[in-house]
Amino acid sequence: MLARGIRSYHRPTRLEDALSLAAQGAVALAGGTRVLASPVEAPNVLDLAALDLTRVDSEDGDLVMGAMTTLQEIIESPRAYEGTAGLLPAACRVHSASRMIRGMATLGGESVQAAHDSELAAALLALNAVYVVTRPEGPVESPALRFLRKPAEDLAGGGLLTSLFIPGAPEGAALERVAVLPSAPSLVAVAVTVSFSGEHLARARLALTGLEGPPSRILEAEAKVEGSAGSGDDLERCAEQVLRHATFREDAHASADYRRRVARTLTLRALRRAIDQARNHEPAQMERPRPLLPVRLPVAVPYFTSGRIEMTVNGVLRAAEAEARTTLLEWLRREGYWGVKHGCETGECGACTVLLDGRPVLACLTLALRAQGRSVLTVEGLGNPDRLHPIQTAFVETGAIQCGYCTPAMELCAKALLDAQADPSELEVRDALAGCLCRCTGYVKPVEAVRRAARESRQS
Ligand SMILES: Cc1cc2nc3c(=O)[nH]c(=O)nc-3n(C[C@H](O)[C@H](O)[C@H](O)COP(=O)(O)OP(=O)(O)OC[C@H]3O[C@@H](n4cnc5c(N)ncnc54)[C@H](O)[C@@H]3O)c2cc1C
Ligand code: FES
Ligand code: FES
Repeated sequence: MLARGIRSYHRPTRLEDALSLAAQGAVALAGGTRVLASPVEAPNVLDLAALDLTRVDSEDGDLVMGAMTTLQEIIESPRAYEGTAGLLPAACRVHSASRMIRGMATLGGESVQAAHDSELAAALLALNAVYVVTRPEGPVESPALRFLRKPAEDLAGGGLLTSLFIPGAPEGAALERVAVLPSAPSLVAVAVTVSFSGEHLARARLALTGLEGPPSRILEAEAKVEGSAGSGDDLERCAEQVLRHATFREDAHASADYRRRVARTLTLRALRRAIDQARNHEPAQMERPRPLLPVRLPVAVPYFTSGRIEMTVNGVLRAAEAEARTTLLEWLRREGYWGVKHGCETGECGACTVLLDGRPVLACLTLALRAQGRSVLTVEGLGNPDRLHPIQTAFVETGAIQCGYCTPAMELCAKALLDAQADPSELEVRDALAGCLCRCTGYVKPVEAVRRAARESRQS
């Protein structure tokens, strides 16, 4: 476990208590995919999970989202498509190929810790998002242009990001990116939103990654298309301004000159796509929705350093000792659930995946306390050698297992998928398994196995 320094854990249910802890220096814990995956010192952890900060709502034409909303929840929310012309879900999807990471990482955590290549930050800039930071004296609004540049300034003195909103949906939006592999971080990404008034562009916003600093809007480029008819020449003038005013990064992955040239093409492409969508009144294409799983807010934990915690594992109530820093991976393996594999401990390999209240999570990046009072499913609860689960039978019969290290995680991800969708497409199966790295079998056979299990379950 990387965040070794954790000594105490707090999980308030009241915002006032959370603010008081934040003012005393407790480190906010949202999805944990940064806090628990990096060697940060976080002696006192303030878990935001019980504050009820998860929501995606439309209010007076604005899209309002809680800071604890996960990226996967955005991908699955029809409101997020309508309120952003599809841009926010698109940016959440490319954040990580791993469904587990997308299902854990939150809008709040990503905004506070936005990497320089964060497509999500670029999208939130192009959407002109407004952040709501709550402080002991009350809430303060901070536009993305300011918040994303220096979140620490807005949060200084014990502020917590509680929500963000997108004022007024754009009519068209697009995200274009270039990466070495589809699953790799973008070398350059361009996010664009547009709205028309009659024949002219009343609003155009454009933000980029791949720069020397954090993702940024290029106001001079926006000025070239705003008020114009959005003709080819207008778009060329806009792209020219991007090249003139953006300072591109030079690193081991790409030269600044390569990024500049790519940025021009991506800007033109993104503008064209956004304008076409707006002119044709095309609704954003949403992925097939999955039925929503019920959300249970965890109970309050005022202060915890060590003690017994309880959770239901594979249908059986278990209680065992934990320290504040104990991960779910350590807790489960100590209890004999060795099907939960110990791999990288940094969220990269997926071998430690379990289902927490039906959702796949990485046990190495989940504190055991997060699972307190909840239900965990490990591969031991899926089936046993005398009575294999149909997914396990399909893995065996398809030859989808060699060493078996990734198999428990893959089978649990498959279960979460098939519980929600009886007839998944190949793409949906691939998406569900992404994040489980396999070093020997590869992915063709496991994908085949999941589709076979789905087919056989439908026929039985
Ligand atoms: C395998 C893996 C792949 C990743 N890939 C990417 C990637 O491709 N692109 C990318 O940008 N990042 C990536 N990350 C990093 C990480 O996923 C993001 O930074 C993530 O979005 C953080 O969200 P979180 O909810 O998990 O935040 P946490 O880890 O819980 O918190 C992150 C930071 O934000 C603070 N914080 C969180 N919520 C609040 C709040 N409401 N108020 C105040 N402070 C708050 C925390 O104190 C902490 O400093 C990856 C991480 C892993 C493990
Ligand atoms: S992702 Fe948890 S051990 Fe690798
Ligand atoms: S079967 Fe060996 S890692 Fe997947």
